[in-house]
Amino acid sequence: MQDYTHRMPFPTTRLRRLRRTSGIRQMVRETRLTPSDLIQPLFVRHGGGESTPIESMPGQSHHGIDGLVETAAEVHAAGIPAVLIFGLPARKDEAGSEAYDPEGIVQLGVRAIKAEVPELTVITDVCLCQYTSHGHCGVLRDGVIENDISLELLADTAVSHAAAGADMVAPSDMMDGRVGAIRSSLDNDGLTDTAIMAYSAKFASAFYGPFRDAAHSTPSEGDRKGYQMDPGNGNEAVREALLDIEEGADLVMVKPALPYLDVLRRLRSETLVPLAAYQVSGEYAMLEAAAARGLVDRRAAALEALTGIRRAGADLVITYYAAEAARWLS
Ligand code: PBG
Repeated sequence: MQDYTHRMPFPTTRLRRLRRTSGIRQMVRETRLTPSDLIQPLFVRHGGGESTPIESMPGQSHHGIDGLVETAAEVHAAGIPAVLIFGLPARKDEAGSEAYDPEGIVQLGVRAIKAEVPELTVITDVCLCQYTSHGHCGVLRDGVIENDISLELLADTAVSHAAAGADMVAPSDMMDGRVGAIRSSLDNDGLTDTAIMAYSAKFASAFYGPFRDAAHSTPSEGDRKGYQMDPGNGNEAVREALLDIEEGADLVMVKPALPYLDVLRRLRSETLVPLAAYQVSGEYAMLEAAAARGLVDRRAAALEALTGIRRAGADLVITYYAAEAARWLS
């Protein structure tokens, strides 16, 4: 090895100075991950009894109402400010009627959480796919997902969630005009304080696989490419977000997170509303599978992925790791 230090002066800048100790690294860290940035998704089903583990998503469960409230209280105690609720209906039909039934599973779950843990922010996923017999996110007519007819049902769903006490509704269906339709229905019903977190840039992704197993929401025929976004499109994601904001979205979201970090960065610089990212079931399952085989350090890999999503521009991250990450970070 040649010793170059005698021949030329070393540049005075040495970036390693600020990496030397854990104390210094902490002082100069640009992106911080705190429990208050994280949102925990929870699944609620009819029937009591023990919470049932979801096979495709290790560590996640289907909860009855009691289990839901208990878990929500634990999540809150861990320092997580919000939960995102998904429901599994008792029955599915063509029109997805349980989605907007005031006594539907999400509506019951929201009321129960709000009665026991009122300070926890409750967000509900607004979509029809778990509730329709065909598994699509809108109304199906002659093989086509009818955009405008679907809006009415989505707006009814959002209103029923808000009336049950949801602080925010999160439409994930990707129909055009749904944010505007939901905002005007909420306002007409005097629910002017309910916020809308729009799944603005929701891509037609292979990474939803484990969730569809968990939520029994795989379409019986066809796919979602006619309404969810094409994975190649970044400009269109910006257009979606700007339209949603114009229609009244209070927060916008990119989903999935890790394969779309550039989209997060663009929305961060091209909009001014709070930005959320959804680390979806497939991202979670990949990390879990690799960790289970001893290929990566589970905790370090999960925290690194979450930090990367924040660094790309997300203010908030919806993640199945939320409650656990809060414990790791405390
Ligand atoms: C429902 C919905 C889906 C997810 C959130 N809301 C599934 C889908 O669109 O197929 C995915 C969540 C995840 O994969 O963790 N429309």
